[in-house]
Amino acid sequence: MTRIGMGLIGPGFVGAHHIDAVRRLGFVDVVAIAASSEESARRKADALHVAKAYGSYEALLADPDVQVVHNTTPNHLHVPVIRAALRRGKHVISDKPLATTAADAAQLLAEANAAGVVHAVTFNYRGNPLVQQAREMAATGELGPVHFIHGAYLQDWLIEPTDFSWRLEPEKGGVSSAVADIGSHWCDLVQHVSGRRIVEVLSDLTTVVSTRFKPARATEAFAQAGEVEREAVQIASEDLATILVRFEGGAKGCLSVGQVCAGHKNDLWFEMNGSRASVRWHQERQNELWIGRRSTANGMLAKDPSLLGAAARPYAHLPGGHQEAWADAFCNVMRDIYRAIACPESRTARAPAFATFEDGYRAACLVDAVLESHRRGGVWTKVAAS
Ligand SMILES: NC(=O)c1ccc[n+]([C@@H]2O[C@H](COP(=O)([O-])OP(=O)(O)OC[C@H]3O[C@@H](n4cnc5c(N)ncnc54)[C@H](O)[C@@H]3O)[C@@H](O)[C@H]2O)c1
Repeated sequence: MTRIGMGLIGPGFVGAHHIDAVRRLGFVDVVAIAASSEESARRKADALHVAKAYGSYEALLADPDVQVVHNTTPNHLHVPVIRAALRRGKHVISDKPLATTAADAAQLLAEANAAGVVHAVTFNYRGNPLVQQAREMAATGELGPVHFIHGAYLQDWLIEPTDFSWRLEPEKGGVSSAVADIGSHWCDLVQHVSGRRIVEVLSDLTTVVSTRFKPARATEAFAQAGEVEREAVQIASEDLATILVRFEGGAKGCLSVGQVCAGHKNDLWFEMNGSRASVRWHQERQNELWIGRRSTANGMLAKDPSLLGAAARPYAHLPGGHQEAWADAFCNVMRDIYRAIACPESRTARAPAFATFEDGYRAACLVDAVLESHRRGGVWTKVAAS
């Protein structure tokens, strides 16, 4: 197989996982990384064993050895970085959100289509084998018509007033915080699994911690700031949200999102109730899929390739009892995307774990609708892209 060169812009928390995932594919070379300065780029490149380090994204994009650009910068840089990469004719894999407004996301989608490159957004929970199993069960009718899809995405890493991230600054993170950051994952996931789009939302947003104490020096996501000088900052974006949703075809749903919920680390779960059966998947117990039935015993399907459906099986790589996890699912997403890059004929039949800029645009429209619903006092609001 021809080798493919990738370059990563924004080597922070999630950037390291992009690099780890593509290295596992075996035919992708991590050519270069770009950070915000020459010095930090060199330091990160050495730590991640990457040969070339650039102090600006423009310099990385000029490197002819870089065919695929991974964008893992803070949200406000997504539009300029992606646009510049597309202008160079590079394939682009961006972490979410594609953009912080639907208008910008629509522009990027149009530019990516015009450039004729592969474009992807890493909604990584699609890559879990039991997520694909639930999707297969929904698609083959095993659940019957689905009438209710509900769940939550809860974390606690922003519970203290001293917890701070660029995500909370609207000029860097966008107007929405918890909904755009993690609620968007849940919405992408349930739409992917159910095969149905969310067409309307009704939301109630809350800022539980409205004054935070920002470290004078920037810290990376999930880093411990320790004893540092701080300044008080008023927070306008939500850290807690309750959202009712309506799916095309009539299914109803609800979602809780929060980053101030003690004890919840990366607590993403969803349940789908159909007329024949229910399924529930919980990210923190991702090797199990609960299956509920009325007239026979409920069950817990353990992740085991020999027990999975034909479509879900390729997403499991270890025998039953050998646990697979977050990083393995991330690698599955990269595998689907890089297959499309390596093999243009496969692009028309896109593999399931591969979310495109179209999905990123839908996610931005959903966030806009959630904000609009809340702004109007909690009224049903249509999702523009539906
Ligand atoms: N898919 C997921 O599960 C997931 C998880 C975490 C983050 N993310 C997304 O990934 C992106 C990054 O988040 P993170 O948590 O890794 O943040 P982070 O703050 O840890 O990392 C961001 C990195 O970008 C660098 N950077 C800043 N300005 C730059 C510039 N001009 N040029 C190049 N690099 C620059 C920073 O120095 C830092 O290393 C966000 O958009 C976030 O929404 C996705």
